[in-house]
Amino acid sequence: MRISVLGCGYLGAVHAVSLAALGHDVVGVDVDAQKIAQLAAGRSPFYEPGLESALQHALGAGRLAFTTDVAAVRGARVHFIAVGTPQKRGESAADLSFVDAAVDSLLPHLNAGDVVVGKSTVPVGTAARLAPRLETARTGAVLAWNPEFLREGYAVNDTIAPDRIVYGLPSGEAGVRARRALDEVYAVAIGNDTPVVATDYATAELVKAAANAFLATKISFINAMAEIAEVTGADVTQLADALGFDQRIGRRFLNAGVGFGGGCLPKDIRAFTARAEELGRGDSLAFLREMDSINLRRRSRLVELVAEALGGSVYEKKIAVLGLAFKPDSDDVRDSPALDIAVQLKGLGADVVATDPQAVETSRRLHPQLEYAAGLEEALDGADAVVLVTEWKQFRELDPAWARGLVGTPLIVDGRNTLDADRWRAAGWTYRGFGRP
Ligand code: UDX
Repeated sequence: MRISVLGCGYLGAVHAVSLAALGHDVVGVDVDAQKIAQLAAGRSPFYEPGLESALQHALGAGRLAFTTDVAAVRGARVHFIAVGTPQKRGESAADLSFVDAAVDSLLPHLNAGDVVVGKSTVPVGTAARLAPRLETARTGAVLAWNPEFLREGYAVNDTIAPDRIVYGLPSGEAGVRARRALDEVYAVAIGNDTPVVATDYATAELVKAAANAFLATKISFINAMAEIAEVTGADVTQLADALGFDQRIGRRFLNAGVGFGGGCLPKDIRAFTARAEELGRGDSLAFLREMDSINLRRRSRLVELVAEALGGSVYEKKIAVLGLAFKPDSDDVRDSPALDIAVQLKGLGADVVATDPQAVETSRRLHPQLEYAAGLEEALDGADAVVLVTEWKQFRELDPAWARGLVGTPLIVDGRNTLDADRWRAAGWTYRGFGRP
């Protein structure tokens, strides 16, 4: 099938490449000429395992092209809208200007029978607002909403083999047409028994907002338990294990630590709260503000813990910060707890040296005041404290005996509760967990 994807950021680039990998003919369109040139040359603009090789493979097979010219969408039957919906500056609500502009730019190029499919995360009510534009322009095309649930670090696989597929469809014949086209796009996943929930626009939009709100709540819940564990001597990791054995609860997303970040969960729960307020149902989602505060205060709590462990102050202490990306296997530092903690420590006068396998360059652009190390050895050299904030494999597998030979003082603060405390203590380290005795 011929498919176009508007917006070649994280979501759009992954979607375009993944659909081409599934055998479709895909054209990716973006207004950013530099990004398009990079993608067309087979280089991923961001770090995502498996993406670059899939991109090169699809380009080589002639199933994928990138352009800044929106007219190239002509001839495609399905047009995905995958542009960003960032948080509005100084507000909680989502900025929908890119979605609106993408839909408007498509209108002159649509043919009767085409299906325009929104993938971007939008406030509930957006599809119903946009659908009449296709009618007014007499395109003969229909609109569907098909939210994306991909996780960074697993993005290609999550797109090709998702846990579920959700279609928000218009009623009547238009809905039948849109569903038929989407079933063809996702034929491989559907053939592998991926559940499909076909519903109305509002429900489809809400599934995405609710899923992210639930995940954020799960993380903040366990982090709230960590706060209680800290003052009672309980161990939040064992608590999470015990809770997780209850199949109604489940162990995933119960890792306490410095909390959630990234380009999705924080902005999406804020946008969801703002939308509920617009709808006169602010009370229903007031708890999400609390989840946001629990999340943000874990960062300052970690900074306090480092200061406590250093005898009351981080001033002029050399602190090795391991991790800058918001999670492992990513170079994304948007709303990253790790980067925020490094900046907070620096603000308190610490001599911060931060390292990350992928996110040093992006961090340096945003925060040139921090010192960055290219690798672990350089970061650990002479450190008064080591703070692990992003649980990259190479940090989880760090050898405490080797690291001890490099640091000034063997003090480790494990912001992700990911190291074997006994092993570190046995190697002569003072180990401080986060929500653990
Ligand atoms: C998330 C959703 O998982 C995905 O479905 C949605 O489409 C986009 O947002 P992503 O932002 O890639 O995906 O990251 P995710 O793996 O969900 O992690 C989010 C944050 O939560 C990270 O900062 C991670 O470190 C943190 N986290 C996750 C925890 O602190 N504890 C956990 O137990 C799990």
